[in-house]
Amino acid sequence: MHRLAVCLLLALAQLAVAWRPWPPRNGSGELEGIGASKKFEGSSEFVKLQYHMGPVLAADITVHPIWYGRWPAEQKRTIRAFVRSLSPAASEEGAIPSPSVAAWWRTVRLYTDQTSANVSAVVKLGQEKTDARMSRGARLTRLDIQSVVRDAVTARTRPLPVDSSGVYLVLTSPDVVVENFCAQVCGFHYFTFPSVVGYTLPYAWVGNSARRCPEVCAYPFAIPSYVAGRKPEAPPNGDVGVDGMVSVIAHELAELASNPLANAWYAGEDPSFPTEIADLCEGIYGTGGGGAYTGQLLTDVRSGASYNVNGVGGRKFLVQWVWNPFLSYCSGPNALDQ
Ligand SMILES: *[C@@H]1O[C@H](CO)[C@@H](O)[C@H](O)[C@H]1NC(C)=O
Ligand SMILES: *[C@@H]1O[C@H](CO)[C@@H](O)[C@H](O)[C@H]1NC(C)=O
Repeated sequence: MHRLAVCLLLALAQLAVAWRPWPPRNGSGELEGIGASKKFEGSSEFVKLQYHMGPVLAADITVHPIWYGRWPAEQKRTIRAFVRSLSPAASEEGAIPSPSVAAWWRTVRLYTDQTSANVSAVVKLGQEKTDARMSRGARLTRLDIQSVVRDAVTARTRPLPVDSSGVYLVLTSPDVVVENFCAQVCGFHYFTFPSVVGYTLPYAWVGNSARRCPEVCAYPFAIPSYVAGRKPEAPPNGDVGVDGMVSVIAHELAELASNPLANAWYAGEDPSFPTEIADLCEGIYGTGGGGAYTGQLLTDVRSGASYNVNGVGGRKFLVQWVWNPFLSYCSGPNALDQ
């Protein structure tokens, strides 16, 4: 078990980016560690998550989606509902059964900065921008994502506001190719450079993998062919690509909030290859999760879909867990032992 843990952590440290596809693959595209002992809901002994003195997002967070490419209204509704579920209005909160998306965010709120300010409890859905015609083309480099953010905040009509609490979420449709998408990443977060955008703004990119690599980026709603005998889980909002994106969006928002300038909470020695609070828990969605096992999920009795948290408007979502700094393992509101 320990050897497996070391192995997984080494594999993790080598990947350059904020999000590592799950299940992890080695150079030959084969699964590492499948069928080996279960990975423990994250291992505490090898994880040295450290605070590096930088800020966390302690003020109310406003998420500004930037829809790049063609986005059907229903897909937008699902993603908006997820963001709105992170801190629902008081009038909506009572109607949401446990375990909830807001309870999932509580683990992220445990992270503080050197002024003892916690990650904000408030996450609001802000203004949105649409670039359906893909003004930067259908192939984007990582740096191009910053240009997409610049276009949105400098647009002549209805530019996105530049506010100190803003987080800019670039969402690309299935026909958009982004550098390293599928091969290494399903999404990433960083901050914009003043030389490109005019400001330092935390942002994230998440791609819809439906056409290119759902088995990597929309796992477990699609399963790699080399994993024998596993059936994909049914997606709770009926959309493999978008339901897969929800977990990646959750992952990126958790890391943006706890490490917005890449100088707050991460493990590992190298800030350009940080292992952040959600990286540590990829592929873990419930009690017992680890290796190729998702952990205990809930089942929607009507649709048969798998989920682990409830949100606004009767929505259900499946989101990976995040690292809990007190327990020193991954946790989520659907844990069976709480
Ligand atoms: C990848 O993993 C498979 C299965 O464990 C193994 O057979 C193969 O040699 C590994 N390839 C590399 C490049 O490590
Ligand atoms: C803020 O963070 C501290 C330290 O992790 C924790 O003890 C406290 O419960 C957090 N507060 C909230 C409201 O989450």
